[in-house]
Amino acid sequence: MERRYIILANWKMNPETEKEALTLARAYKNLDVPKGIEFGALVPLPYARPIAKLWGRNKMLLGLQNINSEKSGAFTGEVSFAMLKPWTPKLVIVGHSERRAIGETDAEVNQKVLRALKENVTPIICVGEKVRDDHGFFLRTVEDSLKACLASVPKSAYPSIIIAYEPVWAISSNGGREMLPAECHEMMIFIRKVIADMLGGNKNMPRVIYGGSVNELNSREYLESGADGLLPGHASLDPKKMQKLFNSLAPIQK
Ligand code: 13P
Repeated sequence: MERRYIILANWKMNPETEKEALTLARAYKNLDVPKGIEFGALVPLPYARPIAKLWGRNKMLLGLQNINSEKSGAFTGEVSFAMLKPWTPKLVIVGHSERRAIGETDAEVNQKVLRALKENVTPIICVGEKVRDDHGFFLRTVEDSLKACLASVPKSAYPSIIIAYEPVWAISSNGGREMLPAECHEMMIFIRKVIADMLGGNKNMPRVIYGGSVNELNSREYLESGADGLLPGHASLDPKKMQKLFNSLAPIQK
């Protein structure tokens, strides 16, 4: 079965109030999303339930930005999937560079991936280098991170996983340049090659998406360069920009 493109908005720690979050979520509901595209948002935890209620059985995907890998215990300040029941998010993003910057390790990401899979939640595993070098050492960084995050994940579970390639230097809040579509193309090939080697073939491949200064002007190029989807951050807070982004993709078919 052909898989559709997936666009996942990462709201990060925004908006500031629940009222604004619901306004944004309502605007999302009214967006005209081209057929061939799955769409969802990764929202701050306190907004998850009210947005789940608002979206109801709508086909939009709702996900979280973090979760603890344990069911309960002495983990002050943490939240488990068990606590959210009966509601379960569709997705959870793990290992985002902004969480790695405050100490999240590949080993912790791996535990979160295993827990998410147990709970039938799609983990979105973020990998990406902080800086580039002319000798390709950054490729090793990405490869090592992928392998560590996927350790002991059964091969049969790979199709239920999303890999998000997010070069830290290309994230809008870091003030760097945009990644070129040709660079994105190379990394999509590289990541798929690492995973195919781990799987011993290209069956059961996860989707590999791209994040880093994604907007209405570059989205189409990133998808055409081989990404299975996109992870807009800053641009996703403006529904008008998101509508332009979708307009720039229509018509599209994988
Ligand atoms: P920007 O789109 O703001 O660069 O954010 C990318 C990102 O971190 C998405 O997870």
